[in-house]
Parts: sequence; C-alpha cells; structure tokens
Amino acid sequence: MCGIVGFVGRQQAAPILLDGLSKLEYRGYDSAGVAVVSPDGGIEVRKAKGRLQVLSDLIHGGADMDGRIGIGHTRWATHGAPSDVNSHPHVSEGGKFAVIHNGIIENYVEIKEFLIRQGVHFQSETDTEVVAQLLEFYYNECRDFFEAVGRVLRRIEGAYALGMLCADCPDRIIAARKDAPLLLGYGEGENFIASDVTALLKYTRDVAYMEDGEVAVLTTEGIKVFDALQQPVEKERHHVDWEAAAAEKGGYPHFMLKEIFEQPEALRRAISPRLKDGRIVFDDMKLTPERIRALSRVFIVACGSSYHVGMLGKYTLEHLTRRSVEVCLASEFRYADPIVDGNTLVIVISQSGETLDTMAALREAKARGAYVLSIVNVVGSSIARESDDVLYTWAGPEIAVATTKAYSTQLAVLDMLGLAFGEALGTVDAAEYAETVRELEKLPEKLETVLAHHEDIQKYAAEHFNHNSIFFIGRNLDYALGLEGSLKLKEISYIHSEAYASGELKHGTISLIEEGTLVVALGTYGKLFDKAMSNVVEVKARGAEVLALTTESRREERQKTVPNVLAVPDTADMLLPSLGVVPLQLFAYYVALQRGCDIDKPRNLAKSVTVE
Ligand code: F6R
Repeated sequence: MCGIVGFVGRQQAAPILLDGLSKLEYRGYDSAGVAVVSPDGGIEVRKAKGRLQVLSDLIHGGADMDGRIGIGHTRWATHGAPSDVNSHPHVSEGGKFAVIHNGIIENYVEIKEFLIRQGVHFQSETDTEVVAQLLEFYYNECRDFFEAVGRVLRRIEGAYALGMLCADCPDRIIAARKDAPLLLGYGEGENFIASDVTALLKYTRDVAYMEDGEVAVLTTEGIKVFDALQQPVEKERHHVDWEAAAAEKGGYPHFMLKEIFEQPEALRRAISPRLKDGRIVFDDMKLTPERIRALSRVFIVACGSSYHVGMLGKYTLEHLTRRSVEVCLASEFRYADPIVDGNTLVIVISQSGETLDTMAALREAKARGAYVLSIVNVVGSSIARESDDVLYTWAGPEIAVATTKAYSTQLAVLDMLGLAFGEALGTVDAAEYAETVRELEKLPEKLETVLAHHEDIQKYAAEHFNHNSIFFIGRNLDYALGLEGSLKLKEISYIHSEAYASGELKHGTISLIEEGTLVVALGTYGKLFDKAMSNVVEVKARGAEVLALTTESRREERQKTVPNVLAVPDTADMLLPSLGVVPLQLFAYYVALQRGCDIDKPRNLAKSVTVE
C-alpha cells in the first residue's frame, strides 16, 4: 500500500522523487520521506509525518537536496504509528544504507533481536528498519552491496518491494521484489523504480515489471536484473499508453468526481472493442467454448467493491448460464478449503491487480488446479500476469481511493462475460441476448444522462448530510447495488451505513429504523418492484425518511408513496446496476463534500491493499 519511487540520472533527484510521490500518495498518506546520495558522499534523508506537502515544504520542493540518485516513499502504517521516526527511508546505524519498503517483513522480530545482540541500535518500531540494519551488518562482512542484498533477501521472510541506497556505491539503486508490486522505468541516461506506473508517466512510458525473487541494479547506464540465483534476466519491456494527463485532476476538485464523470468514456473503451455485429466477442480471451462447457464449478473471488461486482455477477451469470456461481471474499476463500478442481473456473476481479488477499486466493485456486480468469484494470499487474486469462477493463488510471469507474467497467466486462458464456452453453434466451447487447451499446450515452442530473443529487445531499446512520435496501440486483452504495458512503463520509436485502429487514434490523432514519430504497429492478415497494411502506410506517431510486418508467408510480425519487433511464434488467450505481456514487461524494471530508484520501484507507 505504500508508494515507492526511485531515480538515478543526471538531474537533481529530490524534485523528481516528490513529483513521483505526488502521483502515489493515494497508496498511503500518513508520512513521506526521501533519501539521496549527496555529491560529497553520504546519504541525506528527510522525512516527515503527515501529507507529502509537509515534506515538500520542509525541503522546498526538493531544492534543498542536491543528489542525482535517490529513493522516496509515502507510507500507510502497518508496524509502528505514523511518526517522523517511523517514516521511510530507514537508515542503518552507521549511515551507509537507506531503505524504502512496501510490504511486511514477517520475521522482523527475530532478526531485530539477533541484531540487537550484535550491538545494533534501532531507531524505529518498523519492520523495515531491520532491512537497513541487516544490510549494513552483512556489508561489513563482505564489502559488496549486491552480495549484501542477496544475503538479506535470503534471511528475510514476508512481502517486499525494496529500494536501497549504499553510500559506498553512489552510482546505483538496488531494488528487489517479492509479493509487492515494483516496476522499472527506462529513460535516456536516467532510470526509475516505482510501485505504480502513474509515478513515471511524466518521465517514461517504457517499463518492465519485476517478478518475485528478482533484484535490479539501476545506474544511469542502464538496468541489470538478476533472478533469485543471481543469474542475469532479460526483461520484456512494455510500452504504457496511459496519458500523463489521466493522472491529473484536469479541473475537477477531486479525482473521485473526475473519475465518476469519466465513466461513460471508460465504458465505451471496455465495451466497444468487444461488440461485433450484435455479438459479444472476447478476442482477448483464451478460454474456449469447449472448456466453458466442461466447467463444473464457477467462483468469483474479489475484495471490497470488486466483490460487490461479483455479487451482481452471481445473479446475472446464474441467470444466463444456468450454472451455480459462488461469490467469495478473497480473504475468506484462501482459508476456506474451497472445493476446486481442474474443471473449476475462478473469476478474479481486481482494479489494481495487486490486492494481496486476491492474489493469495488466485494462487490458492491455481494450486488446486483451477483455471483463473481475471478482470483487471492495471495492465501488467501481478494478478494479470499470474492468471491463465485476463480481460482488461481499460478504465484508465484510477487515483481516488474510492473506486468508481473501475467498478463500472468491471461490471460491464462481467456482464459481457455472462452473455458470452450463456451463448457458448446455449442457455441464454436469444431475444434477451440481442436486447442486452443493444442496450450495452447505449449504456455510455444513458450514463451521460444520469450524470447530467448530478445537481439533483447534490441538492439532496446538501439537505441530508447530517444523518448518523443511513440504510440502503433493495432486492436481488438492487440489494447487491446497495452494498456498493453503502460502502461508498461510509468510506468517504464516515457515516455509519448498512445495506440490507429488503426482505431481510423484518428479521431483525428493522428495529434500528426510527423517526427520521434515512433509508435509500433501491427499486430499479422491475420484476421485484412491487415487493420492494411493500418494504418501503414498512420502513415509512416506522418513521423512516425515504430516498427512492428507480427507473424513469416507474418514477410516477413510486412518487405516489415516496416524494423523493431519483430515476435512471430504463435499460435491460442486468444493466440497471450500471446506471443505478452512479447516483449512489454522487450521493456519497456530495455528502462527504458537505461534511468537509478529505474525499480522495479517506482516513485509514489506501488504494491498492498489498497487505493481508
Ligand atoms: C472501495 C474500494 C475497495 C477496493 C478493494 C479491492 O471503494 O476501492 O473496496 O474495491 O480494496 O481492490 P482491487 O479491486 O484493486 O483488488
């Protein structure tokens, strides 16, 4: 979850490191730091608790630090509270080594005790400091930076992306990776490391993804990569075509709002290349119709909002394929002894492609023989690379911690996958298939009309941002949609919220409804409209204030019972959540805005959760 950047070149390193970190701050933002090898030898480190701006002010945008080689870090604390001393980079006691780290060194206690017995004094409470101290310990034995790194990597256990500087080797950074993302950027006379490609877009588009166990040595001359046995590795380079502007706010007050408004375009990119002559065609999928027909079990595995996409996918895939589909939280799947064999398909959903829980579930599934198909946004990410098949969502970089456009594109891809599977299995009704494909084509345009009414939602949010608790209720697809609406609201506005299947309320939770409780009643799914309405009447009878979401064709009917109605255009049933989610995203956004929350960087959260 922490952000990592490193630079070797001929320009002053610190301003470049700060700029790179500014693109990574969404990965963690409780402290930041940089280290450079200064021209007179020695390593200079500056770090500070708080947002990156605090550090930037401290070193005058980097102007105060003179080195041409350096490493930088934004932190999301795991071991040790956010503080100046716990911030990275960590420096060895003798001052020879500086280290930045993303991940967790699981055996750090044992190593720390060992080093303390050798007379080493520790400064911080972090697991990372053992890497810096251990490097110096081994270096004192072998006097070789690369060899000392090799010895450290053989000793430490856990997950890491590491950037390391040595005062005695002022021309290089050494980087290493295991179970945490790290990529290499190739420039002209300058080279980079970063945990995320957005940090590099301004400087280079030529990147290579480090694999587990690899070590890279970066100088101005080039990048040499070695495997765990210290044998040279030829890396495949990838050209990234994301625009640098895509990682900027572009006039919007927040990345989240920008990304909400980018959804029609993102959907076009996800859908259009896969629609050909009224059919869904996944040119990028290796899974054959024969293999689909041979499947005995299907799982969808993901975390957070991606899991909510999976919940919706269960309804649509089961309906379209007449096969049972199990949706699992990735963090549970791994330890649940899942029933998986060679005829099992595991669909993994992840925006970042780096979520550790999801990654671990993927590996568990593969170890048990499953075929893994992933739906991923970040090209070349770990999940994409380790899957048997990958369908990209093409949403472009998502910077706000709360996902929006990635959710929408994941959902569109999963819906299309369901239609393609249904066709391969002969289980989908031809008329429904044709109608849904037609509606998929119109989806971006319909979404634009939903966005055009954002002011209605803003107005409603301005009147209702003061609630202590908000409920989302709905049935079937609307229930799964409510889970996402509720998560969006709580993560950025800090209002307690729950999503409930409407029919389940009366089995206990209805006791929490009292005079003035806000209930967001989702009733877009036509087949269950009447049933959903009865549940609205139940909560109203207990004094709830209701905000209803439905479709244009039912707006009038709904207004008979509920004065406050938001409506989205009518579309094919399974596509309704793709439209319905947008008012919920906007509602969460505007409520958080009214409450003065830090929308793009909500408390305690970070994008790309690379710890278990
Ligand atoms: C919520 C949110 C998270 C992510 C979850 C999975 O707005 O963004 O719940 O959906 O952490 O992340 P990915 O999709 O990157 O695996």
